[in-house]
Amino acid sequence: MAILVLGGAGYIGSHTVDRLVDRGVDVVVVDSLVTGHRAAVNSKAKFYQGDIADQPFMRDVFKENPAIDAVIHFAAFSLVAESMKKPLKYFDNNTSGMIKLLEVMNEVGVKKIVFSSTAATYGIPEQVPIKESDPQQPINPYGESKLMMEKIMRWSDQAYGIKFIALRYFNVAGAKPDGSIGEDHNPETHLLPIVLQVAAGTREKLQIFGDDYDTPDGTNVRDYVHPFDLADAHILAVDYLRQGHDSTAFNLGSSTGFSNMEILKAAREVTGKPIPTELAPRRPGDPDTLIAASDKARKVLGWKPQFDDIHKIIETAWKWHATHPNGYQDR
Ligand code: UFG
Repeated sequence: MAILVLGGAGYIGSHTVDRLVDRGVDVVVVDSLVTGHRAAVNSKAKFYQGDIADQPFMRDVFKENPAIDAVIHFAAFSLVAESMKKPLKYFDNNTSGMIKLLEVMNEVGVKKIVFSSTAATYGIPEQVPIKESDPQQPINPYGESKLMMEKIMRWSDQAYGIKFIALRYFNVAGAKPDGSIGEDHNPETHLLPIVLQVAAGTREKLQIFGDDYDTPDGTNVRDYVHPFDLADAHILAVDYLRQGHDSTAFNLGSSTGFSNMEILKAAREVTGKPIPTELAPRRPGDPDTLIAASDKARKVLGWKPQFDDIHKIIETAWKWHATHPNGYQDR
């Protein structure tokens, strides 16, 4: 048995590949390297550069690796703000890419997939913490593209028997604790890496996007989860499908919310740096508060996140940023 990891050179994908290799699993990675980094992929995994929407290429990958029985799919664009400006890019890459992938999986008879969905599928939540059964009404094209992927998966399960687990991540932050792999986006738009780039001196200041939200300190509240904990949830989800269970969705978060100001404060404490900040206008597409109810993953999958303290998460990210101020260029 082998696992095919799509987008295995990206931030969450590379941490999952590392975790899988660490457990002695046979791993095949496909990544276009449009946003991923070859250096992020554990050298014990077999690597192919290519696009998941390129069906002849994907057929070859499956043919050359007949041991593949399950796919973990991370290969998608994931920036909320960019998706507001370029919705078609998101529907094309994320949603159409998924259709092309499922066609090939059905052809070659690989019928298990665990894929990255998102908290952004819920839009503005009616209640927090958010449960899996709550309404999904995205307020940005990124969330919409992922919700469409979930719906396509449901019908593909019914028609072709392709079993899926949709993992709806909340905000992912942190790095491998030894600092050897971490988050490197270009351009970087996420809060914690930007905060730590300011701490490391590669960026002048942090802009806080809005302080007039309906939250205790007026800044957005998010739920942070470490990529190793996410990786473990993917591995448990593959096992769950291999045991013959039905398709379903799980939220992955810590069930605790931190405001943007609280993240800044914790980062100042961890790094000991002042981290200059200025107030900026709201960023379109940002909901006030996103916090996961993640008891379903804990109960059904037996998921036990190890990084349950925001200072610990920030420490791991700081180790990466302090030693790689220019990301993978420094490796
Ligand atoms: N923020 C700032 N300044 C910055 C960058 C971000 O104030 O320079 C704020 C944002 O406005 C938001 C918070 O920090 O309030 C977190 O923003 P991120 O860009 O780090 O993360 P998002 O919450 O927008 O998005 C992330 C993932 C999405 C996912 C979403 C679900 O990138 O894929 O979490 O919670 F859908």
